[in-house]
Amino acid sequence: MGEQEDKAKLRAFCVDLCKGFVGSLRSLSLYPPEHPETGKKLQEFFAQVNGHLTDHKGLTMLFVDGEAVVENTRLTELSASLGKLIQRFEEIRLQRLILKRGLMLEELVRFLQLLLPLVKNPSGADLPLAMSRESFPHVLVSQVHLDAVSHDSLDNLSITPQGADRTMISLRDQVKEVFADFHGTLPEIKLALAGEVAASIHRMLMSEELPLKVVIYRRNPDPDLCLHALHVAALSTALAQQVKVHTPLLQELGLGALLHDTGLFVPSPAAATLTAAATLDEKQKQWDHPALGAKTLLSTQGIPDLVPVIAYEHHLHYDGGGYPQQKQRRQLNLASLLVGIADSYDNLRRHRPDQTALSLTEALNWMDCRQGKEFHPLLLKRFRAMVKAQAHDKR
Ligand SMILES: [Fe+2]
Ligand SMILES: [Fe+2]
Repeated sequence: MGEQEDKAKLRAFCVDLCKGFVGSLRSLSLYPPEHPETGKKLQEFFAQVNGHLTDHKGLTMLFVDGEAVVENTRLTELSASLGKLIQRFEEIRLQRLILKRGLMLEELVRFLQLLLPLVKNPSGADLPLAMSRESFPHVLVSQVHLDAVSHDSLDNLSITPQGADRTMISLRDQVKEVFADFHGTLPEIKLALAGEVAASIHRMLMSEELPLKVVIYRRNPDPDLCLHALHVAALSTALAQQVKVHTPLLQELGLGALLHDTGLFVPSPAAATLTAAATLDEKQKQWDHPALGAKTLLSTQGIPDLVPVIAYEHHLHYDGGGYPQQKQRRQLNLASLLVGIADSYDNLRRHRPDQTALSLTEALNWMDCRQGKEFHPLLLKRFRAMVKAQAHDKR
């Protein structure tokens, strides 16, 4: 009952927030910001945003296909009244709006004032182009990558508990967008999006909107790397909760888990061809991806320190084995050990070029044989307990 109430509260908050955004914009189109009526609307909207940013690093609003989505909550009830406005937002390439912690009323008002004339006359206007990072350090605007908004048939995913299938598609599409047009650097907007996905996974696991069953038992053998990233983030976050990792660290760990295979997304020159050289190239890439991913992530501004560490260490073993090869045994970060377990499990459960997906039991047996070698014995034990607990959960 409490969870239902929480969901209803979140939904009401998202609706109010969206109405506050549109109301402020409409009021500004009638009166200047100094007008008492407009001032009141702006203050109220800012208070809503600011309240949310006290507990969250960012607030994300999407405007796609005539629908508003606030913090992963689809506000279908607003589609009829906001349809035309959302269409105009899309015309000026405002499909995703992220408001970041640190936003002040003055920056918010300047953003709305910039947005307003473009919405009134959208022909050829481009909001992301009109905004400089220096002038709007806490407002990120972007387009949603077209390839990322897939409309996959639900049949392509395994049968999952109600609602979870849609959640998985939506989250996977967001991961796809993080890595869309990836050429070896991760811009700030993509990092912010990845942070939002990791935060959503955490929130959804807590509220059981994303049941662990989906990532443990009903793992689809789809080899897709974005789905893998999503699974590893969910499993790592859940396992970290089991071993009582402190919450702020949990968020960094979730982000690190989501980005752990960043090195595999870096395009290699021969990848487009089906030659022996391309196969060798791909094999080499597998060996190189932890260091390459860490290097890429280290050059990303604002990235938490733990994220490149996880990328670098996730294929290193508890007993000092694994890769990248080390001159001396390295003391692995707890987060890397946790992500390493989640990563191995999910790799075993998906089809890969050299392996057919294993069943849950086969995967666990395989991992058991490597307890104390590849995997930390106590952490693996906790992982097994977490898996077992799912078997008793009849939902
Ligand atoms: Fe990897
Ligand atoms: Fe991986």
